[in-house]
Amino acid sequence: RIAYVNGQYLPHRHASIHIEDRGYQFADGVYEVVTIVNGKMIDEEGHMERLWRSLGELQIDAPMKAGPLKMIMREVVRRNGVVNGIIYLQITRGVAPRDHPFPKNTTPALVMTAKRLSMDKSERTAQAGVNVVTVPDIRWDRCDIKSVSLLPNVLAKQAAKDKNAYEAFQVDKNGMVTEGSSTNAWIVNQDGKVITRPTSNEILAGITRASLLRELEKKGVEFELRSFTVEELHNAREVFLTSSTSYVLPVVKVDEHVIGNGNPGSISVTLRQIYRDFME
Ligand code: PDD
Repeated sequence: RIAYVNGQYLPHRHASIHIEDRGYQFADGVYEVVTIVNGKMIDEEGHMERLWRSLGELQIDAPMKAGPLKMIMREVVRRNGVVNGIIYLQITRGVAPRDHPFPKNTTPALVMTAKRLSMDKSERTAQAGVNVVTVPDIRWDRCDIKSVSLLPNVLAKQAAKDKNAYEAFQVDKNGMVTEGSSTNAWIVNQDGKVITRPTSNEILAGITRASLLRELEKKGVEFELRSFTVEELHNAREVFLTSSTSYVLPVVKVDEHVIGNGNPGSISVTLRQIYRDFME
């Protein structure tokens, strides 16, 4: 495997970053995960826009313009022979002696890796459906920034893993579901209405979420953008999640509540197909 590190393509095992990189010391950086299907990047523009927005919110200079960045993304994909998989891209504020305020004249650091993901495995997971647990949302007020500062998300995902679940849906102080630790959360209520939380500073504006909503609009599928409670989640007719690595993934159990008959719901299955068609 080959990684890109600040202007160089290096063997993955030799790719490293300075110990005083602010990403390492302060989690002072942002990232993106872009899906590749049949060698094609999915929603590249959406990911670039969100990346630039995250950088802007943290006042980190872009290391280069979008054009050259996209060329490096293609090169990393090519050098790793990825046909189906993901690109991981990270930009930190760069290397400087440890001190909390922004350093002056520091060059941002750019790192990129790519890896293969099995479409067959993804399909098998989707056909079985996954389990989800709920955990309190202990994150900060700027979850709209795709920051590498992911400790609460790591704790949430570990809580899921400890219970043999695929994902943890986080719940705010009002008992409303925000999103998964690395996914957006959706329900289909007993009236058959598709519901997901509106974007705000409390969740990440998922690119998969946005594209699925656009496809639903095109197809005239009704949906509602509103917060929903844990109770609505437990009693939903269907539950699913979205992300660049999971696409649209049916959920069959939430905490102790079996969703529907314990198999992926028909609307979730249809929406996954709609999203897969969109990617191909
Ligand atoms: N996670 N919410 C959070 C907190 C996320 O970290 C992600 C993405 C999403 C879904 O966004 P998108 O559809 O743009 O992938 C929602 C990536 C995949 C990750 O951390 O690996």
